[in-house]
Amino acid sequence: MSDYIWKKASSAEVDGRVMRFLAGEDVVLDRELLPFDIRASRAHAQGLARIGVLSQEQADAMDDSLRTLARRFEDGEFVLDSRYEDGHSAIEAWLIESLGDIGARIHAGRSRNDQVAVALRLYMKDRLGRLARACEAIAAVCLDRAEREADQVLPGHTHLQQAMPSSLGLWWAGHAEAFIDDVALARQTAAWLDASPLGTASGFGVNFPLDRDGVAADLGFDRLVVNPQYAQNSRGKVELRALDALAAATSDLRRISWDLSLFASQEFGFVRVDPAFCTGSSIMPNKLNPDTVELLRSLHAVVVGARMELESVLSLPSGYQRDLQDTKPPLLRAFARGLDGLAILPDLLASLSWQQDRMREAIAPELHATDRANELVQAGLAFRDAYRQSASEMETLSQRTPEQSNEARRSPGGCANLLLDRLNQRLKSLQMQ
Ligand code: ARG
Repeated sequence: MSDYIWKKASSAEVDGRVMRFLAGEDVVLDRELLPFDIRASRAHAQGLARIGVLSQEQADAMDDSLRTLARRFEDGEFVLDSRYEDGHSAIEAWLIESLGDIGARIHAGRSRNDQVAVALRLYMKDRLGRLARACEAIAAVCLDRAEREADQVLPGHTHLQQAMPSSLGLWWAGHAEAFIDDVALARQTAAWLDASPLGTASGFGVNFPLDRDGVAADLGFDRLVVNPQYAQNSRGKVELRALDALAAATSDLRRISWDLSLFASQEFGFVRVDPAFCTGSSIMPNKLNPDTVELLRSLHAVVVGARMELESVLSLPSGYQRDLQDTKPPLLRAFARGLDGLAILPDLLASLSWQQDRMREAIAPELHATDRANELVQAGLAFRDAYRQSASEMETLSQRTPEQSNEARRSPGGCANLLLDRLNQRLKSLQMQ
């Protein structure tokens, strides 16, 4: 272990067991944050040069050294492990090792408290961007299949009981719109937390004029977290909102997975999940199970559990408390697993094959009863009378086809047009943001 950066002549030895407890898995978690911490450190060094705390040559030497660190870390040549207390200490140790006295100047005007806060905000911006792109890809597949399979019939259910003739177009486009909303939420959340806490140090600022605005702009932030105390108090609060955006997507993922899980069962027999997404049974030779669909469904549980864990940490007084370290595991775990799962969905969806015969067979004549009642309304009957009349003439409904039913609701005289062009347009405009 390299020396603790906080070690001084007067420091007592801290018990090894205690240090292990304090560190927990922190240094391993910091592997995800290190690239962002390095970026922020580079911007901080340039900011110090602008106010004369470092010479430009010193800042540039740091910049070179930090870029090397980033590259080595990416290539696996630099390993962030328990030799260091945390990622922040590792950066300082690296700079001191490579630049000596110059490296020892990096921590002027900052604390690990604003260092971790800025790394986390950069991480969340990045992951919310990935979340938005993952949801875009899912929505694009749904819209594409909605267009190609617009007219294929599907029994519509309420209460899981058959309700009305419906279509794959309606089913796909419904899921597409859900994921388009999730793109919007991910982008809005990224914009909401797009503020730099760097330069607030331990939560009280420092007594020299850091170029906070310039550093924030260099890092691509839209604004500052202005108040140093709030820079710490907002830790956890922003993570919760990021997890909310993720949870919106994983709950939509849960619903589409549920549909597919039902539709793929032998009882429904509507869809075949590509074997590339299935596994077999260790005992039943006949089985091919759509496990991927099921673990995608349970992903929401991981996110909601993480959210609960994170929120439970936040009963805290103002300012930095070490408890805040415990907000990192649930955040990082939920985004890692959530984004992995969402990334699988487009290919899984694209590979589904529908069993149109089974879907058509499943549509019993009674499913046309509501259309019939509405036709009687158009002929002038009060809806309640039309409802009763339709109920009494179920046998006449067998002459209709599900296609006619879908067609009538989608025609200019109906109101279930899929309006795919509107959904495509909204997706495009979100992509351009
Ligand atoms: N691992 C710490 C966290 O996540 C980093 C900040 C440590 N600050 C301190 N004063 N000990 O909160």
